[in-house]
Amino acid sequence: MTKKVRKAVLPTAGLGTRFLPATKASPKEMLPIVDKPMIQYAVEEAEACGISEFIMVTGKSKRAIEDHFDYAWELEENLRSKGEHKMLDEIRRLNHLQFAYIRQGLPLGLGHAIHCSKAFVNDEPFAVLLSDDIIDPDDKLLKNMMKLYNKYHATILALQRVPRSDIHRYGVIAGNEVQKNLFRITDMVEKPAASAAPSDLAIIGRYILTPDIFRFIETTIPGKGKEIQLTDALKALLKKKPVFGFLFEGRRYDAGDKAGYLKATVELALKSPSVKDDFRKYLLSVISKLQKEI
Ligand code: G1P
Repeated sequence: MTKKVRKAVLPTAGLGTRFLPATKASPKEMLPIVDKPMIQYAVEEAEACGISEFIMVTGKSKRAIEDHFDYAWELEENLRSKGEHKMLDEIRRLNHLQFAYIRQGLPLGLGHAIHCSKAFVNDEPFAVLLSDDIIDPDDKLLKNMMKLYNKYHATILALQRVPRSDIHRYGVIAGNEVQKNLFRITDMVEKPAASAAPSDLAIIGRYILTPDIFRFIETTIPGKGKEIQLTDALKALLKKKPVFGFLFEGRRYDAGDKAGYLKATVELALKSPSVKDDFRKYLLSVISKLQKEI
């Protein structure tokens, strides 16, 4: 019987240099978007798909992530004694999930980071979430990918069309559309120059992988940036087994760069029950001020 996707791997070892000095001593993944750290959005997205085991591939200065997903009994006691039950429920909401932490040790690339999780993933399909990519929870990207996995039992990557000017920041695929928004991938290349890109279909930070990816990572030589690239391992895999790309047409914010981070903050603040009304009024006042300046 085909196994269900129960586990998620979240690579979190990156240095976050684009957010220096904020990330000098604390992880980029803990930067708040409204009232939650960036990484919690990815964890909640996976949890909403029935994933309960998380493997965080971490590095130096990342301990705050461990503390964040741990029980906080002193804080819980404090909130309980003050009768702050709503906040208490909020901070306990993810306590039922299991987290394992493994250190990447050396910054050898995304493929290497995924391979670090091998002993924890075992012989099961698993999701990979890159927490820089914030997906609007209402657009249910991972849920749709899970449905496809349950139908095809094959590797599924998330894709989005990106402008040519941005294509060099992504893994890019070539493929044939086999049903609406589903591509059977025939080739892929990590961060090509715009002139060499096989399409405008970029891989975004959600994957459902099968455990055979580990074998392919093991024989992948360092590629772009002299790193062991997941894209290169997937390219070897697709010569042996089907690899599909799901074209996501919903909202994604690349919170790995400052402008994307700010956009994610604005968009999610406009959805947050605790601030949305005030924030909307404020934004309207900013817009009218800006319009007068034009
Ligand atoms: C990684 C992958 C790349 C993918 C991107 C999505 O790159 O290597 O193929 O398109 O994530 O965010 P990174 O952004 O970590 O350099």
